[in-house]
Amino acid sequence: MTASAGCVALVMAAGKGTRMASDLPKVLHEIAGEPLLGFVLARLAELRTAGHLDRAVVITGHGSDRVRAYLGRRWPDVADVLQEPQLGTGHAVMQARPVLEGFEGSVLILNGDVPLLETATLEAMLGAHAGEQAELTFLTAVMPDPTGLGRILRDEEGRVVRIVEHKDATPGERAITEINVGVYLASWPALSRAIDGLSTANAQGEYYLTDAIAALVGSGARVASHMLVDWTQTVGINNRAELVAAGALWRQRRAAYWLERQVTIEDPATTHLGPEVCLGPDTVIEPFTQIYGRSATGRGCRVGSQTRLQDVQLGDGVGVRSSDLADAVIGAGTQVGPYARIRDGVDVGEGARIGNFVELKKVVFGDGAKAAHLSYLGDATVGAAANIGCGTVTCNYDGELKHPTTIGAGAFIGTNNTLVAPLVVGDGAYTAAGSTLTRDVPEGALALGRAQQVVKEGWVARRHALSRSATRTP
Ligand code: UD1
Ligand code: CA
Repeated sequence: MTASAGCVALVMAAGKGTRMASDLPKVLHEIAGEPLLGFVLARLAELRTAGHLDRAVVITGHGSDRVRAYLGRRWPDVADVLQEPQLGTGHAVMQARPVLEGFEGSVLILNGDVPLLETATLEAMLGAHAGEQAELTFLTAVMPDPTGLGRILRDEEGRVVRIVEHKDATPGERAITEINVGVYLASWPALSRAIDGLSTANAQGEYYLTDAIAALVGSGARVASHMLVDWTQTVGINNRAELVAAGALWRQRRAAYWLERQVTIEDPATTHLGPEVCLGPDTVIEPFTQIYGRSATGRGCRVGSQTRLQDVQLGDGVGVRSSDLADAVIGAGTQVGPYARIRDGVDVGEGARIGNFVELKKVVFGDGAKAAHLSYLGDATVGAAANIGCGTVTCNYDGELKHPTTIGAGAFIGTNNTLVAPLVVGDGAYTAAGSTLTRDVPEGALALGRAQQVVKEGWVARRHALSRSATRTP
């Protein structure tokens, strides 16, 4: 499908987003826990996996430090170029010249603020472009309310003539409902020549990328348009009302996507799924659930009401109820919650149990191990089938440094233990309820670390007798 000379994506993300009225660059505003830019990059990653794309370049400008920090953290393979100052979408594309020096292939250009496009739509557009042997193909849609968008002007035969921006359009042109989505596929040499001739003689005093279309048509190049019937994929975000409305559309669309793929989303309106989230067959997602980042579930999972997963991998048959998990791997058949908190690099084995009010931070938790209630385990390793009694706390922090706790396989930690790290409890060892442990416990030993109980027989009667005699002597 892709020309042999290759295909590079350019994502325009340098604009100020004035209408967001925000300190945050527009493309970093979030839907389902992911910046708008991440939605576009997630789809491009899929195109790349399918072999349609060689690489992606993001054009940054306004708030470029923050945009680049996000790219570095989440998309280290994606390059960026700086557009400074920001003189319009045509000017944005000009900035890619140095990175595309001598490139003879095609460029897929996308607005960074159009988040809901599906991969299949982009693939269809790539197919149409190849089929038409066009120099440039762009996406259009018919909008119920096209206000603010670029309109498509066609001749009597229906051929594209040019795009007119809303601000430059006459009342007659504004009546046109076919709009420019902001996605273009073009031969780079042809487009590069066309953007040379752009001017800023328009209502916004900007270099419009959209004017390159009239220039190409004028030079006799083949320009094709690809109309997307489902306009809801094409919404662009220019203000907070549009951001929130697009979020609602996304939840609906994404639920529909997963419902077609053997997943039950019980309440699409309250289920927030990031663009890279992957759900296994026969998984059930209960209402009021957020699954973000690069999270995935296996087969037959149940992710419960009021749960938030951020970058979490669940094995097959995992159940999570009313819990907050971030940066964790949970093995098959393990049950988590309600009210568990798991964070910062946790690896839980298979068939384990992390119960109510249990917090795990940087923990490796073995197969079949259990921490059923009210515990904090930090910087710890727990062996297979170990049992962590209710109220157990690892004292991992001395005020300056963090120290590790290691609990062996099959160990039994009694209720309400205070484990002062660094500490090792050997395989199969027992520790008595209520112990404060400061020294290692060898394999197979019993450790008692609590004050000896003292029983004073008849003490209450003696106390009462004493207090009676005290009140009689004034
Ligand atoms: C643009 C299109 C319009 C289309 C609409 C679809 C132009 C001139 N107009 O209008 O035809 O209907 O998108 O949503 O292209 N950007 C830069 N550098 C700049 C200016 C913008 O990188 O100097 C980026 C923005 O960050 C944004 C994208 O380009 O991601 C679109 O810019 P925006 O100003 O939102 O264009 P629209 O007015 O929405
Ligand atoms: Ca826009």
